[in-house]
Amino acid sequence: MTVADRRQLNNTLHKSENNQFAEPLTQLAYQIFQQSKISFGIAHKALSSQLLNLLNPAGNPKTKPLEPSLLIKLQKRLSQILAAEWQDAEKGVYPTSLLFDQSWEEFLRYYPVVWLDMLQASERAKQKKYQDFSPEINIEGYPKYYLQNFHYQTDGYLSDMSANLYDLQVDILFNGAADAMRRRILSPLKQGVKNFDSVSPQQIRVLDIACGTGRTLKSIRATLPQASLFGVDLSPAYLRKANQFLSGIPGELPQLLQANAEELPYLDNYFHAVTNVFMFHELPAAVRQRVIEECFRVIQPGGVFVICDSMQVSDSPDFMSVMENFPAMFHEPYYNNYINDDVVERLESAGFRDISTEVHFVSKYWIAHKPG
Ligand SMILES: C[S@@+](CC[C@H](N)C(=O)[O-])C[C@H]1O[C@@H](n2cnc3c(N)ncnc32)[C@H](O)[C@@H]1O
Repeated sequence: MTVADRRQLNNTLHKSENNQFAEPLTQLAYQIFQQSKISFGIAHKALSSQLLNLLNPAGNPKTKPLEPSLLIKLQKRLSQILAAEWQDAEKGVYPTSLLFDQSWEEFLRYYPVVWLDMLQASERAKQKKYQDFSPEINIEGYPKYYLQNFHYQTDGYLSDMSANLYDLQVDILFNGAADAMRRRILSPLKQGVKNFDSVSPQQIRVLDIACGTGRTLKSIRATLPQASLFGVDLSPAYLRKANQFLSGIPGELPQLLQANAEELPYLDNYFHAVTNVFMFHELPAAVRQRVIEECFRVIQPGGVFVICDSMQVSDSPDFMSVMENFPAMFHEPYYNNYINDDVVERLESAGFRDISTEVHFVSKYWIAHKPG
């Protein structure tokens, strides 16, 4: 063995020894990180419910108590999704660092405001005000179904403050697992764009519809670092937030556009993949169909459409009380229709084939292909 060979062997052994210790430590850190988010979410909800009972009992919607056996099932699904996303990171679908994505600055800045907004939201719930917008918000030009205080949020999706609070509110709602649910789209997305292996990575185009504040685009950027990314949303305030958030990460800035997903401002067959997270349950049935047809139009033959949204009755009948509580707690006028909707049939009628579904924690996923 030459000196160079020996050096190389030493380096390899040293690296694998490092990995041997580094990986379990990182996994432990991830488990502690997620566990603290779970505990925080549970504590926040328990405290806020007690506070509302004291301050504004009529604004604290009545929900069905969840059976202990159901809570155990929920906990099991949560552990499973966290294990699945760790495995994906280990397999190299995305970097492990993505699992620790948390802005403490944003948290410290906006968490106190979440409490203040909760009191306003409970007042709105009490008064059954569902289309309550501040006078300075311009509500012209938006579809009627969109002008709602989804989640009783102040100004719906149409103010900067709503955009600042949204991610924190959603993460608390899902006990710290909102990003874990978003990240379940990444493996089928990466798999889907493999169909285009003759296309250079920079020329792969991926569109995230209803991109909101950009969290999904950020995780797509980590998964497909060289791809050209695009995002559309109806909310100028959420797009502003997404622009600010995505400007801080390395790589090309995704191109963000204000647009209605029913009429995408792109050429036919333009994208290799389209993604969508947490929008379908906020659309009336006919709009859901139009959006699916638009996505079919802009996806290239051979391309993939990956959707993530709430679980549904057909796949999660045991979780019916969770699904009943959701629209009782939050203003979600289209949710009851959504949980009974046959999205596979909609995708097929638009032309998609080779459609599969998955369920992770409280979300469902559709992976649909445009025939090549
Ligand atoms: C529940 S949020 C989900 C945001 C983001 N995808 C996420 O993962 O958090 C729903 C988003 O859909 C957007 N939206 C609703 N209807 C839309 C439409 N017709 N066209 C484009 N965006 C729409 C809203 O502005 C909002 O940002």
